[in-house]
Amino acid sequence: MAMEAWYMDSSEEDQRKPHRLTPNQPLSLGHLKTLGVFHWKLNADVYETDPELEQLRRDHGYSFMDIISIHKDTLPNYEEKLKMFFEEHLHLDDEVRYILDGQAYFDIRDKEERWIRIAMTKGDLITLPAGIYHRFTLDETVQHTHMELSLI
Ligand code: LAC
Ligand code: NI
Repeated sequence: MAMEAWYMDSSEEDQRKPHRLTPNQPLSLGHLKTLGVFHWKLNADVYETDPELEQLRRDHGYSFMDIISIHKDTLPNYEEKLKMFFEEHLHLDDEVRYILDGQAYFDIRDKEERWIRIAMTKGDLITLPAGIYHRFTLDETVQHTHMELSLI
């Protein structure tokens, strides 16, 4: 299924819930591009030898790579890390994230500071531009192991 994005409601309820508006207010990939957010769908099963991923890294100069497994049994300080990830923040470099397994949400602020939620599943690679306010959370399927490949 194609990657989906929508404007969020303002409820303080569980961050792992979808938080869609009623009626749902979806955003297209084209709209995300105007905010500097780019997306690729890759085959996460072959990430170690994927020529498409290699090409993308070459084209954009993403030389760094790190894999993080977000699971309470394997990630040290799991609860604190998840809390940190969900605190609104920005980076001086692009944020490049590739979901190798599991599902999660990236939230970004649009130019009017409204929160947009981007639903990421296995094989989604996303780049957030330097300086954009964002945060990250697992979704309601947290019982699964979540792998995130970070590239910069
Ligand atoms: C990061 C995500 C959590 O900075 O925004 O890795
Ligand atoms: Ni970040």
